[in-house]
Amino acid sequence: MRPAPTGRRWRRLALGALLACAGLGACAESADDLASGPVRPAPEGAPWQTLVEWRLFVDTADQVPNDRVVPYEMISPLFTDYAAKHRFIWVPEGEVLGWRDVGPLAFPVGSILVKTFAYPVDARAPALGERLVETRLLVHESGGWKAHTYVYAAGDPDPTKATLKRGGTVVPVSWIDADGAPRSFGYVVPNENECAECHGEAPSTQPLGPRARQLDRDSDYDGVIVNQIDYLASAIGFDQPPPAEADRDRMVDPFGDADVATRARAWLDVNCAHCHSAAGDVSQKALWFDWESTAPEVARPVDLGVCKVPTSSGGANCERTYDIVPGEPDASVLLCRVESTVATVQMPPLGRTQAHVEAAALLREWIAAMEPVGCD
Ligand code: HEC
Ligand code: HEC
Repeated sequence: MRPAPTGRRWRRLALGALLACAGLGACAESADDLASGPVRPAPEGAPWQTLVEWRLFVDTADQVPNDRVVPYEMISPLFTDYAAKHRFIWVPEGEVLGWRDVGPLAFPVGSILVKTFAYPVDARAPALGERLVETRLLVHESGGWKAHTYVYAAGDPDPTKATLKRGGTVVPVSWIDADGAPRSFGYVVPNENECAECHGEAPSTQPLGPRARQLDRDSDYDGVIVNQIDYLASAIGFDQPPPAEADRDRMVDPFGDADVATRARAWLDVNCAHCHSAAGDVSQKALWFDWESTAPEVARPVDLGVCKVPTSSGGANCERTYDIVPGEPDASVLLCRVESTVATVQMPPLGRTQAHVEAAALLREWIAAMEPVGCD
């Protein structure tokens, strides 16, 4: 993935735009100029029709954020068909973030969260750039969060033409993966109702990613490696000082070097817990994957699916009996549903059309390493 854009770079670009303006006089009206000036929130209930009108980027093609638009990365990101993602936070001037130890940080009304989905031309050669697919926004209005997505025109070299798409669409994407294999498939842009299936129905729509435990990692800001919590504290500010680094609970990289059970927990949390948790839609199934519920000191094996008979009527079971059979990945419903790409079987049920092969391998290793207990 492209390193986080640096502040130095956006300052240079912003200055370029300013000088161009000074020379052209009435350039405030021109489309080009929408890329200069401060972030421009839309009136409530009337999102801009094009992405460029928000002025979130000074260079959309390179995803160079505007002044005060802060890039961040997740410790454990959501899998979306191998798309690369660029994430940003914008908070109105003079406002701060509300610290939360567990849930998403509290964002003041007016805040905008941004996530762009892109595919590298060739994952082995980042310099060849990326093809941008969509930029999703969560906008905090006084009545709650609003979800919107802007889709980049296929084959159009001008990314500033990304337009609001409420009804979803399928975008053909082709790229060369990290192993040099050509990949192509129809990337599914969700419709606005589908945003709610993961982020919650209005007026309870919520951000999912920016939690302290997910942000508590290093990132490259302006060529300097900084802890993201520290960076947010200085760039935006918190309503209270965050706990000392040693006292903070942080997730692990699912493909890093922590033990396999902790890595499986981190992957399940971000990919499954927005539905499978006490707060999520399928809470009654008591299959809970949020980081708190899966902590070894609180987890009941059955809540993780261990020797649990699937309760969902009409849910696919792959002709297997239990969600997890310790020691037996190939007898476990959970693994089959993660490996599947059949719409009626796959988990998560939306947000992907491709299998996350590396995650399936991780869950296989996790289940295989569990002490066999004999479910029957
Ligand atoms: C399959 C579930 C799912 C669907 C569908 C979904 N999201 Fe998300 N979204 C997530 C998760 C999980 C995260 C946090 C993880 C990450 O960013 O990697 C996230 C992150 C985001 C972010 C960054 C801020 C945040 O909350 O973390 C934005 C903005 C966003 N989504 C907007 C949208 C919009 C708009 C739609 C509909 C067009 C949508 N999402 C559909 C699950 C989903
Ligand atoms: C968008 C919401 C959503 C997400 C995200 C989601 N699920 Fe589900 N899941 C459901 C629903 C609804 C059901 C019940 C219907 C069915 O079985 O298809 C279910 C059922 C299941 C079942 C059968 C459970 C039982 O005991 O009845 C398993 C196993 C499962 N999910 C695993 C996962 C895993 C693993 C993930 C993450 C990779 C995940 N799910 C992500 C909505 C979701």
